[in-house]
Amino acid sequence: MLTLAIIKPDAIEAGNAGKILAHLEGQGFKIRAARLVRLTKAQAEEFYAVHRERPFFRPLVTFMGSGPALALALAREDAVAHLRQVIGATDPAEAKAGTVRKLYAQSRERNAIHASDSAETAAREVAFFFPELAP
Ligand code: CMP
Repeated sequence: MLTLAIIKPDAIEAGNAGKILAHLEGQGFKIRAARLVRLTKAQAEEFYAVHRERPFFRPLVTFMGSGPALALALAREDAVAHLRQVIGATDPAEAKAGTVRKLYAQSRERNAIHASDSAETAAREVAFFFPELAP
């Protein structure tokens, strides 16, 4: 089973991408595809379209295009649910000790990593960055 992660621009800028990748591999995830991207405004808007009406949408789109980000297709048993556990709560103040966001996130917006939140979302998000993996 595949899921989609994005190591966000704040984590790349802070030099934490390698440590986050090692953390994910240590949790049993195998990298099936990886791409360093610089999201355009249109791409970030499309990726986060579900949040279009939320007050944080515009800053989120701006932030996600503010620098390089690393998109990852990750494989593991129960990948979607497990990756959500490993990354922790959206807000690092609420994330459990040892989670990626507790370790590396700066704030609810600059929160180091994105992960798909359901199997349906994972299929859409993996295809968004890696159409070549589509069944
Ligand atoms: P992510 O998993 O990438 O999905 C949506 C993102 O919106 C989320 O992580 C946060 O970085 C960002 N965000 C900013 N503010 C909020 C908020 N108040 N509630 C939820 N997500 C937020």
